[in-house]
Amino acid sequence: MRGDGIGPEVTAEALRVLDALALPGLVLIEADAGGIAYKRHGHPLPEETLVAARSADAILFGAVGDPDCDGLERRLRPEQAILGLRSELGLFANLRPATMFAGMEDASALRPEVARAIDLLIVRELNGDVYFGDKGTRTLDDGRRQGWDMMSYAEDEVRRIAHVAFRAAQGRKRRLTSVDKANVLETSQLWRDVVIEVAREYTDVALDHLYVDNAAMQLVRNPGQFDVIVTGNLFGDILSDQASMCVGSIGLLASASLGERTTAHGTFGLYEPIHGSAPDIAGQGKANPMAAILSLAMLLRHSLGLEPEAARVEAAVAAALADGVRGGDLGGSDSTRTIGDAVVARL
Ligand code: IPM
Ligand code: MG
Repeated sequence: MRGDGIGPEVTAEALRVLDALALPGLVLIEADAGGIAYKRHGHPLPEETLVAARSADAILFGAVGDPDCDGLERRLRPEQAILGLRSELGLFANLRPATMFAGMEDASALRPEVARAIDLLIVRELNGDVYFGDKGTRTLDDGRRQGWDMMSYAEDEVRRIAHVAFRAAQGRKRRLTSVDKANVLETSQLWRDVVIEVAREYTDVALDHLYVDNAAMQLVRNPGQFDVIVTGNLFGDILSDQASMCVGSIGLLASASLGERTTAHGTFGLYEPIHGSAPDIAGQGKANPMAAILSLAMLLRHSLGLEPEAARVEAAVAAALADGVRGGDLGGSDSTRTIGDAVVARL
């Protein structure tokens, strides 16, 4: 699903990398999602797209978002495609790694010596929170208009994402930071209580808790202190964009969205860059496809059980960066295609 804006351009480069790996027996299905799907089929997430998604082992997703669609009622907007896929397919666990690439410290919005230490994983809950609660606009008795969105988490929703995060921490440096706003929000107090309950099953992981405002501050003050961060849907959305600039560019961050369904060799998942459709540069060959290519690497690892190939792709991206390949997002002028070529050449 290539989607809108720069989605098709960056996905095309990821698919060229996939092609270069020459994996036997791989079947590719294309499906429309987002503004393009609305324009072609009258809905951002057509039934045939959902059917294709359900039949697949993994989804490689570009980006959605189209200013032409801003005036549509919310259920028809492009963003509903990705939100719909996440919820319809039960993809509740969003993994967003942020690691400093060697030699890229200068690209970070932070001082190089602060940025160098970044090696963290944000585990963002993806099926709940204020994203999926009741929402609406209404007119109050005194005539003022009011918008409202209901924030909530049920304990089982917190528990399952907590388990994912604790297990991820066990495979890393065994430190987990849970981010909430328990000093103000009831939703967050329950979140914190449940994370503490789950922690009893993971005595080998050191758990701490931060309020989201403090977490945002710590992320720029000393990002090296973090190993795994687990948080809700809204806070995770915000903190992961912030983490991307600490690493250097939002054009470098990939993500995996996983649920409970397994495939022959791993877990069914959706893989997408964390960046959006960037309509301002769409169609100009200026977008950095590295996040899409790194998303492909995550797909190979988590859904297809191809760890060596995943590592090869990641190493090729790192090597291209080390050799000075830079998109406009990193202050360079290499085109989308040039960057794709550079990665393929280093596979
Ligand atoms: C993301 C994006 C989406 C989100 C948008 C496009 C709905 O910002 O994946 O981070 O808010 O989750
Ligand atoms: Mg976001």
